[in-house]
Amino acid sequence: MNTTQTLNGPAVSPDGCYKLSQFEAQVCQELAQRATALKNGAAPQTKPGKALGLLFLNPSLRTSASFQRAAARLQLELVNLNGQGVWAMESQEGAVMDGNKAEHMKDAAAVLGRFVDVLAIRAFPAGEDLESDLTDPVLRGFAKHAGVPIINMESTLWHPCQALADWATLDQHQVPKPAKFVLTWAWHPIPLPHAVANSTVCMAAQRGMEVVLLHPRGYHLHPEILAEADALAESNGGTVRISHDREEALEGAQVIYAKSWGSLDTWGDSAAETAQRANLRDWCVTSKYMPQGAKFMHCLPVRRNVVVSDEVIDGPGSIVIDQAENRLHAQTALLEKLLS
Ligand code: CP
Repeated sequence: MNTTQTLNGPAVSPDGCYKLSQFEAQVCQELAQRATALKNGAAPQTKPGKALGLLFLNPSLRTSASFQRAAARLQLELVNLNGQGVWAMESQEGAVMDGNKAEHMKDAAAVLGRFVDVLAIRAFPAGEDLESDLTDPVLRGFAKHAGVPIINMESTLWHPCQALADWATLDQHQVPKPAKFVLTWAWHPIPLPHAVANSTVCMAAQRGMEVVLLHPRGYHLHPEILAEADALAESNGGTVRISHDREEALEGAQVIYAKSWGSLDTWGDSAAETAQRANLRDWCVTSKYMPQGAKFMHCLPVRRNVVVSDEVIDGPGSIVIDQAENRLHAQTALLEKLLS
């Protein structure tokens, strides 16, 4: 069996969807095309008698609503759980569970795997210990113990469903594969996870785009993610480079994708992170930074007039609502594939 190897943790089985790049570019393209066909009215390949589990250990609007709708379109039975409704969960192997966590993840995973045919999980990083977070312990733990395919609905490292929806959105807006795609860091009042940034840079690289990763010094992505993006670009005719200069990076850009993420250098130290960000508040996408005709993308939710100005997100280049709608079509296409 092939395996999907990433960062510090054990391999993740490929029969689910841990990250988009576990699929070849051709498969991603076919999934994106299927998402577009579904959007345009193609009949879903229904799977009556199959069941989908959703486990949200963190809040969601788009992911939750779109998976529930996708399940209904495919005639799946749905087990829908969120963090407030389940026992506090231990993820450490060998933990002495005499604290406030009543259930071990390995038991929860094995039990849920008896009820459903595919299990989707959202688990953000704890944000305290970088080495531990980089193992993506909840997604990897569920993948190891559930006994059914796992879909990552956003973990420490990856948000593959967002990336697939974004690929389909770029196709639908006829953004050429060699187009200049700038993923720009933005200021935010709190440090955010890297999953969307990691997934976006790898998605654009795998789509064969001219990718510029734009951020202030001190806000680099993990070196293994950058190495993966480089390898994906090389295999698919794209390029990836890093810039710290907004004017240079944004010149001629056809897509500006805004996202905030926390610094790996001060992970778990919010006072240090706040100090690091103190002079970066002007990293907001305003019309000054939007080249003529460029598309604006963001995964949402977004803090308006902090990450992006109203003028840009409400302007003619903004395709953020299409991105959100495509979550439904992309996940329907993904579920069709995983349950076929
Ligand atoms: N983009 C995204 O995943 O949105 P939610 O956090 O609302 O699910």
